[in-house]
Amino acid sequence: MDIIQNLNWRYATKRMNGNKIPPKSLDTIKESIRLSPSSVGLQPFKIFIIESEELKKKISSPAFNQPQIMESSHVLVFSVWNSLTDKEANDYLSFVQSERGVTLESLSTLDNYLNNIKKMSLEDFYNWSSKQAYIALGSAMIAAAELKIDSTPMEGFNKEELDKALGLPEKNLKSVVLLALGYRDEQNDWLIKMKKVRRKESDLFVQL
Ligand SMILES: Cc1cc2nc3c(=O)[nH]c(=O)nc-3n(C[C@H](O)[C@H](O)[C@H](O)COP(=O)(O)O)c2cc1C
Repeated sequence: MDIIQNLNWRYATKRMNGNKIPPKSLDTIKESIRLSPSSVGLQPFKIFIIESEELKKKISSPAFNQPQIMESSHVLVFSVWNSLTDKEANDYLSFVQSERGVTLESLSTLDNYLNNIKKMSLEDFYNWSSKQAYIALGSAMIAAAELKIDSTPMEGFNKEELDKALGLPEKNLKSVVLLALGYRDEQNDWLIKMKKVRRKESDLFVQL
C-alpha cells in the first residue's frame, strides 16, 4: 500500500478497542525506533513498553485518564537520559570504534561534539535529547501506519507524576512523550469520521 494512503488513514486515535497487536508488528515498530537517526548517533533515550494492566493503571492518572492508555495494546513511554556523563560518552566512543573497526584518534570530531554535549545544562540537555526522541516517535508512527496499527502520540500527561509512577528518577531518566498502540474503536471514537485537517501545500512549502 502507498505510504501516503496510510498516512491519510492514520489519525490520533481517541478510543481503542483493547485488541492486541501482533508481536511481529511490535518488533517492526521497535526496529523503526532503533533505526531512527539522532544527532551524533547517540540515541540518548530509553523506551519503556507497557503492556500489563497494572502498569497501565499506574500511568493512567498521570496521563489525565485519557482512555487510550487502558484501551491500547501497548503504551510506549519515550524517556531521555538526565545528562551525558563521562562514562556514557566514553562507552559510546568505544562502541562506535569497535562497530566500525576504526582507531579512537579517528573519532576526534565525534569526541569534540560529545564534550560539548556534556557541558549542556540539564535543561538544555533535556530539550536536545527530547528532539532526538521525537524523531524516533515519528518513525514509530509511520511504521505503525504502514502496518495498519493505530497510534496516539500523547504529550497530555504530568511528567513528574508519570516519572514517579515508573521509577524513572532512580534510573536517571525523564519522560518525554507517550505513544499508545492498538486498534481504533469504530463505534466509540468521535474522531473517526472527522476530516483530517491539514494546511495546504502552498502554506507550508516555499519553492526557491
Ligand atoms: C507530540 C504530540 C502530542 C500529542 N498529544 C496528544 C494527547 O495527549 N492526546 C491526544 O488525544 N492527542 C494528542 N496528540 C494528537 C494531535 O492532536 C493530532 O496528531 C493532531 O491534531 C493531528 O491530527 P491527526 O494526528 O489525527 O491527523 C498529540 C500529537 C502530537 C504530535
